[in-house]
Formats: sequence, structure tokens, C-alpha cells
Amino acid sequence: MQTVRGVTALVVGAALGLGPVPAPARAAAADETTRANTLTAMEGEAFAHARYLAYGAEASRNGHDDIAALFAATGETELREHFAEEAASIDFVGSNEDNLRDSIDGERHEATVVYPGYARQARRDRCHRAARLFDELADDEAKHAVRFRTALFAINHPNSGVPVPVGEAVTPVPITAGEPVCSGATQDNLEATMRGEAFAYAKYTSYAEHARADGQPRLAQLWDNTASQELGEHFSEAATLAGLVGTDAENLRAAIDGEIYEATTMYPSFARQADSVGEDESADLFAEIAHDEAGHASAFLLALVDLELGGIGGDRGARRS
Ligand SMILES: [Fe+2]
Ligand SMILES: [Fe+2]
Ligand SMILES: [Fe+2]
Ligand SMILES: [Fe+2]
Repeated sequence: MQTVRGVTALVVGAALGLGPVPAPARAAAADETTRANTLTAMEGEAFAHARYLAYGAEASRNGHDDIAALFAATGETELREHFAEEAASIDFVGSNEDNLRDSIDGERHEATVVYPGYARQARRDRCHRAARLFDELADDEAKHAVRFRTALFAINHPNSGVPVPVGEAVTPVPITAGEPVCSGATQDNLEATMRGEAFAYAKYTSYAEHARADGQPRLAQLWDNTASQELGEHFSEAATLAGLVGTDAENLRAAIDGEIYEATTMYPSFARQADSVGEDESADLFAEIAHDEAGHASAFLLALVDLELGGIGGDRGARRS
């Protein structure tokens, strides 16, 4: 009975987007491997957030409102708690100037190296839809780099009269469920694109929060608007070509696989590594998040069972317990 109550609490917690909130880190982790593991974990959290939004939208389109709500709430936990707490544990967010320099470097690399390379590969793979997408992304990232460079000049030269550009918010593009359009290296590159864009969204959202708290609302708006394009267009368009979204049952199975990997393999190994080098706060954070992920896996598994039962057994199941 205790076990059932425990699972129920985890499921309810996941459904509400709640999870254990560890004490804020007092000092940033210094160990290089711990910091690298934290960044790897943050990439996973950012991707989980983005794909759960996509899975939730699909469940909503299919009239499965409970599944949609579960994905939405869990996605928020991945971003607002897990990603944010991990970011805090390594002092990921710096000064506005540092954050702008980081953003400029990232955008320039994507615009001049990553996406042009992916586009060439897609043409070799004869996947022209992907090639066109990568060309568009390279153009967009170049524009992002220019805006961030202008913003850096503006905040460093407040008397120049140059305003911080704010860019513009985009209307999210719906992700179409289906099979992958490409294969081989281009499919791998589309998956890397989804991860990179999901991470860019999470990072820029964190930078925007810092700028807002720092009394720089235009800079905050620039990061928020750029983030909206990274997720609402770039991630979404890559997701459609990569075949990210399947049926609701397939999406729940994919989510369960990811959560079990994080709960039983990734976070425990990161916790052991942090513990072995005396990074106690990181070890505790990884351990607590591992428990949260186990709760997410349980919640998704129960949702999958209910979906497969198709409304059969609800009352009878309740009578049996
Ligand atoms: Fe998570
Ligand atoms: Fe960008
Ligand atoms: Fe992007
Ligand atoms: Fe999770």
C-alpha cells in the first residue's frame, strides 16, 4: 500500500509539474567532469522540454486532454526546475555582456559551419527538403548573430544612440506527425538540430530572465523573441522532417524510454562521479532529479496503460484496489 501511495504521489506530482526542489547551490561546481556532465544533462532536459511540448500538442489534437496536460506539466518541470537548477549549479548564466558574447559565438558557428555543412550533406543524401531547411536556418542564425552584435555594441556604448534591437516573436509552426523524411547522416543531423535548437531555446530563456532582473527589458525581449524562433520554427521544422512525433502511444513509449534512461543510468552515473570528487551539491541534485525522472516514467506508463485499455477497467480497477 505504501508503494502504491508513493507511486501515486509521484504521478500526481509529475502531473502538476511539481518535483522536489533542492536547496539552491551555494558554490558552483568546479570539477571539470562534473561541469561537463551537468551540461550534458541540461541538453537532455532542454530536449525533453521541447519534445514533450510537441507530444502534448499531438495528444491535444487527438482529443487526449489528460495526456496533453501530463506532457505539458512534465515539460515545464524539465525546463523550469531541472534545467534551471543544473544551470545554477555551474553558474551557467553570466553577465549580460558574457551572455551576448556566448550567443554571438554560438550563432556564428551555426550560421557558418554547422548548418552549411548539414545542407551540403543533405544534398549529397538527396534530401532536398532538409537541404532547404538547413539553408534557411543558416540565414536565420546569421541574422541572430547580427542582432546580438548590435545589442552588445548598444549596451557597451549607451550614449551612441544605438538601441538594443528586439527582433520579433514568431508564430509557432505546428509539427506534423509522421515518419522521417530523410535517412542516414541527414537524419542524424536533423536529430542534432532538434537538440541544438531546444538547447538554444532554454539557454536564451535563461539569459532573458537574467536581463529582465538586471533592468534590461529590451535585451530580455531580444532573447525571448530569438528563443521563440529557435523553438517555434527551427526545432519544429526539424522535428517534422525527423519524424519526432508519432501516435500518442508511440510518443508515450519514447518518453518512458528517455525517462528510464535518465533515472536509472545517466543521473545515477553523474551522481556517483560528482560524489567521487567531493561535489556534494551536484551529487545531491543529480540524485534528486533521478527520482523525479522515475516519477515521470511512472506517470507516462500509467497514461499508456489507460490509453491502451481505452476506458476499459477504470471502474473495475478502482473496485479491485
Ligand atoms: Fe528532467
Ligand atoms: Fe539562433
Ligand atoms: Fe536556431
Ligand atoms: Fe523527466
